[in-house]
Amino acid sequence: MSSDYISLVRPDDWHLHLRDGPALRTTVPHTARVFGRAIVMPNLKRPITSISDALSYRERILAAVPERSSFQPLMTLYLTDTLRLEEIDLLANTEEVVAVKYYPAGATTNSKNGVTSTEKVYPIIERMAEFGIPLLLHGESTNPSTDIFDREKEFLDLTLSPLCDRFPELKIILEHITTSDSVDFVRERNQNVAATITVHHLLYDRNDMLTRGVRPHFYCLPILKRSSHTQSLRAAATSGNPKFFLGTDSAPHAKELKENSCGCAGIYSSPAAIELYAEVFEELDALDRLEAFASFHGADFYGLARNQEEVTLQKSEWLAPPSYQLDKTSVVPIRANEAIRWKLVKDNP
Ligand code: NCD
Ligand code: ZN
Repeated sequence: MSSDYISLVRPDDWHLHLRDGPALRTTVPHTARVFGRAIVMPNLKRPITSISDALSYRERILAAVPERSSFQPLMTLYLTDTLRLEEIDLLANTEEVVAVKYYPAGATTNSKNGVTSTEKVYPIIERMAEFGIPLLLHGESTNPSTDIFDREKEFLDLTLSPLCDRFPELKIILEHITTSDSVDFVRERNQNVAATITVHHLLYDRNDMLTRGVRPHFYCLPILKRSSHTQSLRAAATSGNPKFFLGTDSAPHAKELKENSCGCAGIYSSPAAIELYAEVFEELDALDRLEAFASFHGADFYGLARNQEEVTLQKSEWLAPPSYQLDKTSVVPIRANEAIRWKLVKDNP
């Protein structure tokens, strides 16, 4: 096969926002076109706080999966101060629900019901550690007086470090890491600590968001950092270290809510995610490591079987559209109106 093509075992997305209702008609096919599975975030307007909510949300997602796609959503529960221990016991016996998501209250979109102090959820976390259920964390401190660019580091120091010390058996995934501090933290902790890395944090830094005008479509949480952090993330993703794996954090918001005097946080990347990861890995001369990052490390960490089928990407430029329909409005994707260098091809050439 020439270097204009690359084949890999079908990848999975270990951090994804699909939303609900008619939006699923847009978001689900964009993910299912290439990813075999995705960890679906529970931060709906009414958060998913019970197994029964998670299972009915799963049915709504499955109803939007295109024919012939074998895409499987992997569901999560939203951790609140009052989540009942029985839900964890149920989760342990429910194959379709695989993890619990920790949002510090107020850290990001639809997180107001999140955790207000870690101590309050220790009994839940202890039970999760017993069962081997992964805890997924949005790793940012919510201290209003902490500079937004320092919130990830503060979370490591004040929340995550004590949590890891107290529960060494707990499987922890630090989601969408954005700093060299997090890269070092994950590398240095035991084998139960891993992290997902988005494609936008590998491609962009805060200059892309804040020079040549304020660019709301680059605004996400955790916020883009300075370029030295981007370089650390790029090194981690392409290192071959199994603690780092793909999670897009693709998070659609209506165009008018992004292009707004108080714009929402989130970047919609699923229509071009694997293609853009390929761009990054190619730039770093590491295309041979894309498959492990995208298709092996996440499944292995979660203790799930790796996918079997293959997908093929071709080096062939295409123009991302200005927007996609999203319910009655539209969503602007990453790279809108700009070229993307790799393209998914349906069948092996
Ligand atoms: C996400 C969303 O919109 O749900 N936004 C984002 O900027 N990443 C929430 C999140 O993962 O923080
Ligand atoms: Zn997210």
